[in-house]
Amino acid sequence: MEKPQTIHRLDAVPRPFLKWAGGKGRLLRNYESLLPTGGINRYAEPFLGAGAMFFHLWQTRKPKFVWLSDVNSDLVLVWKTVRDQTDALLERLRELQKQYDSAPRENRNAMFLAVRKAFNTETRDGVLRAARFVFLNKTCFNGLFRRNAAGDFNVPFGGYENPSIADETTFYAVKNALSCAEIVCCDFSECQSFVDTETFVYFDPPYKPLSPTSSFTAYTGAVFSDAEQKRLADFFKTLDQKYGAKLMLSNSDHSIFQELYSGYNIQKVLAPRAINRDGAGRGKISEIVVTNYAHEPRTLALDI
Ligand SMILES: C[S@@+](CC[C@H](N)C(=O)[O-])C[C@H]1O[C@@H](n2cnc3c(N)ncnc32)[C@H](O)[C@@H]1O
Repeated sequence: MEKPQTIHRLDAVPRPFLKWAGGKGRLLRNYESLLPTGGINRYAEPFLGAGAMFFHLWQTRKPKFVWLSDVNSDLVLVWKTVRDQTDALLERLRELQKQYDSAPRENRNAMFLAVRKAFNTETRDGVLRAARFVFLNKTCFNGLFRRNAAGDFNVPFGGYENPSIADETTFYAVKNALSCAEIVCCDFSECQSFVDTETFVYFDPPYKPLSPTSSFTAYTGAVFSDAEQKRLADFFKTLDQKYGAKLMLSNSDHSIFQELYSGYNIQKVLAPRAINRDGAGRGKISEIVVTNYAHEPRTLALDI
C-alpha cells in the first residue's frame, strides 16, 4: 500500500503536543509581563511536562540554546522521539488513530485497555512505546499520567469522540523547534551544568497541594514532598547567587513559599483551578510566580 503523503507546513506554529496536568498553556498570556525584559538567548526548563513555556518563548524570543528536562523517562522518550524519529512515530500514530476511529464506540474502551496493558508489560524503549504513550495521553481521562504502587500506568479511558492522535502538522512543527534543544531525563538540579549568567530558567514543579484532597501532584508516582520544595528553593538560591541567571518559578499560593522565597519577588496570579475529578470546584485560584528580577507589579485580577 502506498505510504500517505506528508505535507510539511513551514508556517505551522509549534505548540504543546501532549495534555499535561499543570500545563501552563492557558496562563502564558498572563505570564508574559512577568518574563525578563530583553532577549532570551539561552533557556532552561527543568520541569518540562508539555513544555508550554518553551513553545511560547520559541515563538516570541527565539532562544538559540535550550535545555529541556524532566524526571519522567517516558515523557522524555516521547520528546526525543518527536525530534529524532518523527516519521516513524507518525506512522505508528496513524495506525492507532485509524484503529480508534474505526472501532465502534462500545469497543474503544477495550482498545484503550489493550494499549495500556501493552504499555505496562512491554517496557522496552523505542518508537512503539513513545506512540503508545501519546495514544494513552490523548485518550485517557484528562491526559493524566499516574502510576499505581506496582508502577503501572493506571489512568482510565477518557471516552473522547474525536481525539487528535496523529496531528502531523504539530509534530513536524515541534520537530523543527526542537532542533536547538538538549532533551534530558534527570532531576531538576542537573540543569546546573547548562546554566550561566545569560540563562533564563523557568521552574514549574508539581504544586504543593492546598488541601489533602487536591492530590494531583503525583505525576510520576513519586510525590513532590515539602522536603523537595525546600531542595528546589535552595537550588533556586544557588543559581541566583552563583550565576546571576534570571529565574522564574510557579507554585500554589501556599504560605510556606513566602518563607522559602523570602527576599525574591513573589507575585500572585489567578489561574484556572487544577483538574478535579468530579468537575466540581472549577473556577479560579490564586497561584504565585517567584522571580529574582524586577518586573512591573500586576494586580491579582488577571484575565484568563
Ligand atoms: C507541573 S508539571 C510541568 C508542566 C509544564 N510546565 C507544562 O506546561 O506542561 C511538573 C513536571 O515536573 C516533573 N518532575 C517531578 N519531579 C521532578 C524532579 N525531581 N526533577 C525534574 N522533574 C520533575 C513531572 O514529571 C512533571 O512533568
